[in-house]
Amino acid sequence: MAEFTTPPMRVLCEACGAARTYTEMVNAEGICRASPKTLFLLETFPEERNVWAHLYGPEPDRLAEAAQRVEALGRFQGIDLNAGCPVPRITAQGAGSALLKDLPRLGKILEAVVRAVRLPVTFKTRLGPHPGAPVWREVIHIARESGVAAVSLHARFTSQGHAGTVHLDLLRQAVEAADDLPVFGNGSIVDRPSAEAMAATGVRALLIARAALENPCVFTFSKGNPCDLAERHLDLELRYRALAQAFSRLTPEEATVLTFRKHLFRYFKGLPGANALRGRLMDLHTIADLRAAIATFR
Ligand SMILES: Cc1cc2nc3c(=O)[nH]c(=O)nc-3n(C[C@H](O)[C@H](O)[C@H](O)COP(=O)(O)O)c2cc1C
Repeated sequence: MAEFTTPPMRVLCEACGAARTYTEMVNAEGICRASPKTLFLLETFPEERNVWAHLYGPEPDRLAEAAQRVEALGRFQGIDLNAGCPVPRITAQGAGSALLKDLPRLGKILEAVVRAVRLPVTFKTRLGPHPGAPVWREVIHIARESGVAAVSLHARFTSQGHAGTVHLDLLRQAVEAADDLPVFGNGSIVDRPSAEAMAATGVRALLIARAALENPCVFTFSKGNPCDLAERHLDLELRYRALAQAFSRLTPEEATVLTFRKHLFRYFKGLPGANALRGRLMDLHTIADLRAAIATFR
């Protein structure tokens, strides 16, 4: 998830049971140009075990070159390509979910990247641009031809954004059409029942996004202690923001406080005092303020 699945979040999710994590979306063009800001998005922590680089772009050759540069970093277990992001800034470039309207280009991208690297290559996509254009069957066909290792399917159409029906019936059909090509399922898994419903479609793995922001332990259907999780996350965030200093006018503490405000509330959502905390977030200016806020929930 863009701006969320940084090394601190990924370390926390792995520690809580996630078998694999992904970087946020990284622009292939920025990688090819060796933009320091873009390359920073490819930083990892040494304790990360199975992290995949998630890349986007519209040009097969540039994505292939970017994938080679990523492989050369030696930090990633695989390359995952984005063919599902609905954000206009991305689709206007012909990237993300725009690729579902240009399937020949999607095919060229997958082939070019698979050819360019030894690492396994996957991509994340959706059922189609909208319910009137269910292109998933063609996408599965292209995927099988291209030699990718798996397809991750967010079982919604682009027009749905991140809300509305998760089409488990279509996901099941996609799994059947994919035959021996593994399909990973994604969309609104928040607990054991929703995970089991998606697993029943035959998908090989489940991808969880938003639920992990509130509870990184969702991967094992456990709750975790929100105070412990928030404190651990805060320590990791400080470490990460210290690395970011070369690109930032902020001190690590300032950068951590700014970033952490958006995480803090999520950990305590639904608990007594959470709404009061939400109202006070802008009054938290230092790491000590953040730690004190966490302590009030103990
Ligand atoms: C803040 C945010 C950022 C996201 N960024 C990405 C991204 O960079 N790449 C991607 O493939 N999906 C991205 N997504 C979509 C999620 O990966 C996921 O497909 C979607 O939220 C549905 O899964 P969930 O119900 O488990 O959250 C993002 C979603 C959110 C809410």
